[in-house]
Amino acid sequence: MKESMGRERTRKRRGRETEMAEKRRVCVTGAGGFVASWLVKLLLSKGYFVHGTVRDPSNEKNAHLKKLENSSENLQLFSAELHDFNAIAAAIAGCKGVFHVASPVIFTEVSNPEVEIIRPALEYTKNVLNACSETKVKRVVLVSSADSVVINPNWPKGTVMDENSWTDEELCRKNQSWYCLSKVLAERTALDYGQKHGLDVVTVCPSTVLGPLLQSTVNFSSLFFINILKGSIDSLLNHRSWHFVDVRDLADALLLLYEKPDASGRYICTQEPIRIPDFMELLKNMYPYFESPTSLPELDEDSEMTSEKLKKIGWRCRELKETISDTVKYYEEAGLLRMDMKIVE
Ligand SMILES: NC(=O)c1ccc[n+]([C@@H]2O[C@H](COP(=O)([O-])OP(=O)(O)OC[C@H]3O[C@@H](n4cnc5c(N)ncnc54)[C@H](OP(=O)(O)O)[C@@H]3O)[C@@H](O)[C@H]2O)c1
Repeated sequence: MKESMGRERTRKRRGRETEMAEKRRVCVTGAGGFVASWLVKLLLSKGYFVHGTVRDPSNEKNAHLKKLENSSENLQLFSAELHDFNAIAAAIAGCKGVFHVASPVIFTEVSNPEVEIIRPALEYTKNVLNACSETKVKRVVLVSSADSVVINPNWPKGTVMDENSWTDEELCRKNQSWYCLSKVLAERTALDYGQKHGLDVVTVCPSTVLGPLLQSTVNFSSLFFINILKGSIDSLLNHRSWHFVDVRDLADALLLLYEKPDASGRYICTQEPIRIPDFMELLKNMYPYFESPTSLPELDEDSEMTSEKLKKIGWRCRELKETISDTVKYYEEAGLLRMDMKIVE
């Protein structure tokens, strides 16, 4: 009798352990990218089992994932082009959570934006959402962008932007801001899908993401910062102030939004804004060799954003100075930048 009760207890405990383990099985799309790699690293460090989708698991550019702590036991890479529903569904099968991070991040000119940027972003998102519905995923956390918030001429001037602000799609089309359009369309689609189909979808709108890289390739926002350090101000010309977020804090935000049961809707994820002349001054103070541009354009006040909603559920972030310091140190160590702030060509 005693023996059979003991066996029953062991069976129940094993059942509970299996259930716990299954709750901690999550999928990350585009696992080899800048943001996703940090998220995978964080998830593995917390004991999650991660299904990472990449286009080609054997490609050298994904090799860093296999070197992450706990990856040999807890990381499984799936080959998945995101237009391929069956491949996505196979990667998501058995997962309780999905972090949809992959998206075409293209700011260069393209001959057919509809085909190269807009349609893929939407198609990937719909494929991921449909696969999530099939597998009874508990929550989807989708990485959108601050670009899905800020291009809103109807927002009252001088008022801090929050999650109620949506980028104006028509204005994006007029300005040919195809990436921004792809992000706002994908985010709206995901939130609408969630409401219609009873799928729990939470979205995150990060500002420009900086930080050390885990992957061997250089992603767009890192290249953007390298160009600023090179003295190129083209990318700053339309702004009076800038918003940044550290990639490690963004990974924390994504996990927080997965784990907090009462998280819902969209969340802006950014450090405090900084005026561009102050940003230049900060770089100059930190790196005396940095040659800041002598003249910066005078622009109308543009709206600043707040992450208050995210902070209310417990998110904390680094100061910009720490992010810059760690990022530049990484660039130097990786041979992307010399100590005298000259970029290695
Ligand atoms: N970095 C920022 O400043 C920033 C700011 C706001 C929002 N975001 C968002 O954050 C997410 C990650 O961006 P990131 O900065 O980490 O850029 P990234 O390193 O270029 O990551 C993009 C990922 O998407 C994948 N991808 C693109 N097209 C794909 C396709 N057809 N099939 C499968 N995978 C595909 C890429 O895979 P490949 O490597 O194989 O191309 C890559 O893994 C994106 O949704 C982006 O919009 C980034």
